Amino acid sequence: MKIASIVGARPQFIKAAPVCRALRAEHDEVLIHTGQHYDHGMSQVFFDELGIPAPDHNLGIGSGGHGRQTGEMLAALEELLQQIEPDAVLVYGDTNTTLAGGLAAAKLNIPVAHVEAGLRSFNRSMPEEINRVVVDHMSALLLAPTTAAIGNLTAEGLASRAVLVGDVMLDTAREFAERTDVGEVLSAHGLHEGGYYLATVHRAATSDDPVRLGNVVEAFGSLDRPVLWPVHPRTAGNLHEFGLEGRMGGNVRAIEPQPYGEMIALLRGAEALLTDSGGMQKEAYFFGVPCVTLRDETEWVETVEMGWNRLAGTEPGRIREAVAAVSRPAERPEVYGDGHAAEKVAEAVGRLG
Ligand code: UD1
Repeated sequence: MKIASIVGARPQFIKAAPVCRALRAEHDEVLIHTGQHYDHGMSQVFFDELGIPAPDHNLGIGSGGHGRQTGEMLAALEELLQQIEPDAVLVYGDTNTTLAGGLAAAKLNIPVAHVEAGLRSFNRSMPEEINRVVVDHMSALLLAPTTAAIGNLTAEGLASRAVLVGDVMLDTAREFAERTDVGEVLSAHGLHEGGYYLATVHRAATSDDPVRLGNVVEAFGSLDRPVLWPVHPRTAGNLHEFGLEGRMGGNVRAIEPQPYGEMIALLRGAEALLTDSGGMQKEAYFFGVPCVTLRDETEWVETVEMGWNRLAGTEPGRIREAVAAVSRPAERPEVYGDGHAAEKVAEAVGRLG
């Protein structure tokens, strides 16, 4: 089969790495990068490090409002998919790239396969929630990471198109865990195991609101350990614009976005993770690191149910309480599959042909 895979944002590169390998063992893959993320540290670094083949096409769309960004991608993808004539289109996750890719293909009557289908936060004010609901409903094949995701798809009448494959991020995480020396990365940052918290903040709901972002900065500054914070470019811009850079406590260390292997090592050495990212909540669970989520709901409900993740929102008091209460429960079942999800994705996509 000829399969067009569409990626554009950082988490999609991490998910695509094992899937590209599995697909190329059986099929022809055409890789399309929309250009949603374009900084070297947000894009090329991951292609190099994760051994992802160079994109066959880069649309170079870049940043913009949701409508403009999605619309420009949609127009460019429609034209390109008409030239490529793939048998199926593969999209990942819940970004504007996912929405544009799914919509362009569905309108051309090309079957869409959605990796990471069925996740729901049930919060429609999140752009990601809109993207994932719409993409699930227009996809021919729903590749679900968890039984909770299958449950959500069933509730929406989509069970007949759904397949439980497990989480492709676990494939990448396992592979890198073997390759990375945690001690070496920590000492390069002057850190020791358990001696710091790792933080990430990038969601619009957390980082575009001066009050919420200010609260997060205040909370980080008041914790009992140093906070290492690789800052997403969106958040870096907002910290500057809202005048919050000067309000960072002395224990907060803001650094550039990190490559994947470094980030995984920094996560594994941390006492806990503080994040509003979906992917990182899961990665913390993979490695048995407690997580405090800076949101009021999560798509990765298993992490909370198992006691590894606490929802803390953005109020400083709640964040401090959640950090003080983190623990490492005895049980950490394999709710995200067996680390071979990419092969199952390739098999299921093959059945579309
Ligand atoms: C996007 C996704 C989000 C995902 C995240 C991962 C949507 C709606 N959001 O959010 O679901 O979790 O990617 O990182 O698709 N910027 C740069 N350089 C870059 C990329 C972005 O400076 O390479 C800055 C620009 O100021 C841009 C802003 O970050 O306007 C936001 O970028 P955008 O791609 O719109 O959304 P993300 O916040 O990255």
